[in-house]
Amino acid sequence: MGHVIAVLNQKGGVGKTTTVINLAAYLKKMNRSVLVVDIDPQGNATSGLGIDKKHINASTREIILGINRLEHTILQVNNGIHLVPTSQNLAALEVELVSLKEREYGLRKALESSKYDYVLIDCPPSLSLLTINALAASDSVLIPVQAEYYALEGLSQLLEVFQLVRSGLNPDLNLLGVLLTMYDSRTGLSEQVKNEVKNYFGEKVFDTVIPRNVRLAEAPSHGKPISEYDKWSKGARAYKQLAKEVHQRVVSS
Ligand SMILES: Nc1ncnc2c1ncn2[C@@H]1O[C@H](COP(=O)(O)OP(=O)(O)OP(=O)(O)O)[C@@H](O)[C@H]1O
Ligand SMILES: [Mg+2]
Repeated sequence: MGHVIAVLNQKGGVGKTTTVINLAAYLKKMNRSVLVVDIDPQGNATSGLGIDKKHINASTREIILGINRLEHTILQVNNGIHLVPTSQNLAALEVELVSLKEREYGLRKALESSKYDYVLIDCPPSLSLLTINALAASDSVLIPVQAEYYALEGLSQLLEVFQLVRSGLNPDLNLLGVLLTMYDSRTGLSEQVKNEVKNYFGEKVFDTVIPRNVRLAEAPSHGKPISEYDKWSKGARAYKQLAKEVHQRVVSS
């Protein structure tokens, strides 16, 4: 059985999707099998991996509801990564789930028989029932934190939900690590935020820091991870290093 990682922060635009896509790409380059599960109705991981949302028949919605089997939903994207895409009807799923029995476990059940070394779940920017499905299905959580003012705001709420899930739905859930994103070495602010995050999370903070790098922002519009768009960029080197660090933490856990 592989390792399932939820990439989560209820704050919007902190680098969750960018991390999922590029971490997936470099874990794949390390010869691991990788499945990306897009549970965000925005579908940024789906389009960032080059899939047009208009042409999707089966999506995360169908596997969470148990209407479709995982194997029938998986798409192969250009670089050997597998993807369960999202689709426009995912937004309605939140409502559909409310009346279901065991509504927190839909994703967990769907992933139970999967055989990937790594499953990366791209969460929406909310602590919703979809996110709870991700936490119930995961072995660990990776929290991207943007190096900016108010970086720590909302994190206590996130950790509260994390603890709630651990004390009920999923006692085996771990905090894999906290990742600083969009770090700008030219500003003192980034350094200050880094220190604050380190004070708060200690050793849980990854040594790898993701720099602010325009190539990372450009890559999704080409439907490519940074490893294919510009593998010599600073952003690419950082995500390559992150993949190694994630793998080390997982094997030693
Ligand atoms: N290291 C980076 N350097 C420059 N731009 C970045 C970096 N990481 C992410 N971005 C850009 O910042 C924006 C937000 O990133 P991303 O979509 O990964 O965040 P998110 O947390 O998934 O957002 P949401 O909460 O809406 O799902 C995107 O336009 C992305 O291309
Ligand atoms: Mg996103």
